[in-house]
Amino acid sequence: LKTVTVGLLGCGTVGQNVLHLLQRRQDIFSDIGVRIEVAGVLVRDADRARDVPAGTPLTDDPAFLQECGVVIEAMGGTQRPLALLHPYLKSGRPVITANKALLAECWRELREYALAGKLYYEASVMAGTPVIGPMSTVLRASRFESLQAVLNGTCNYILTQMEEGKEYAQALAEAQEMGYAEDPPTLDVGGFDTAHKLAVLARFCADGDFPYDQVKVQGIEGVTLQDVQDAAANGEKYKLIAELRPGPDGEGWEATVSPQRLPNTHPICSIGAGRNALVFRGEECGELYFAGGGAGGMVTASAMVGDLLDLVIGFPGHVPLH
Ligand code: NAP
Ligand code: HSE
Repeated sequence: LKTVTVGLLGCGTVGQNVLHLLQRRQDIFSDIGVRIEVAGVLVRDADRARDVPAGTPLTDDPAFLQECGVVIEAMGGTQRPLALLHPYLKSGRPVITANKALLAECWRELREYALAGKLYYEASVMAGTPVIGPMSTVLRASRFESLQAVLNGTCNYILTQMEEGKEYAQALAEAQEMGYAEDPPTLDVGGFDTAHKLAVLARFCADGDFPYDQVKVQGIEGVTLQDVQDAAANGEKYKLIAELRPGPDGEGWEATVSPQRLPNTHPICSIGAGRNALVFRGEECGELYFAGGGAGGMVTASAMVGDLLDLVIGFPGHVPLH
């Protein structure tokens, strides 16, 4: 077997599940002649107890990156991961990331590596529900018209629980407990995480350099229990909706994130708490619907380990429009 040496940045909700899944799915890697070796796992506090396989090489020293053939990033933030990953990418080696904030906000620094097929990031949007894969491949044959989506599991959990009468603060605390929320959760409830994801998607279907700051953002902090219950009495649900559509007079693109009341019959309203959904419209492919787990440790790890499989098989990373 050929050994592929992996470095993992972050060992929280996502990182721990990546380690478990790598161990659980050793067989699919050995079927293709590969043995995965984890050379190091970067954390802030290497002494803290964690749910990881025995012998996991936890450390607060990123020196192990030197010996890695691929890095999997699940630490979050922007400047720290960029400082670690940029020299690594520059050396020609590939990176797998779930970090949509990094992709959205540091695109200028990352773009050339994405164009070179060195960046894999299926997990960054809708976690384990594949949308970046189809958008970066087969869907390109259709002329993109618009998309409408629920891209944040935390907000969808909160709004769904409020339909049951739960208070906002209690529902947010539960979403944090389940590992859905960002640190800080303002990224979720303020709509910024959804905006990050929308910018990432826009680069596959509208404009390969779509700037994050072009997304107009409104979160769900202003939605009250009374609002949600009034909507329910009217056969509607509140959802935090990401939309991408042609601008006025067909010039450019408009990207927005805002809470909206949709009729219960709308396809996006059929998803349960914590889940995500996306309606994609293309001239030739027509209307497509993607839905599934959009947050949580193992569902996210499934996309990251899937990216690692693609990489060892020899498929390129996710290449934006260019
Ligand atoms: P998390 O539970 O907070 O874990 C973050 C990990 O990164 C922790 O192990 C932390 O170390 C480590 N870390 C953070 N800053 C560090 C630093 N400066 N130096 C060294 N280590 C550092 O976060 P998560 O939920 O796993 O999310 C990780 C990434 O995946 C984020 O980009 C998030 O947006 C993305 N993502 C998350 C989900 C989800 O459902 N949770 C889904 C899709 C994508 P310590 O443990 O020592 O503090
Ligand atoms: N905080 C994010 C969410 C994690 O709730 O959707 C998945 O990207």
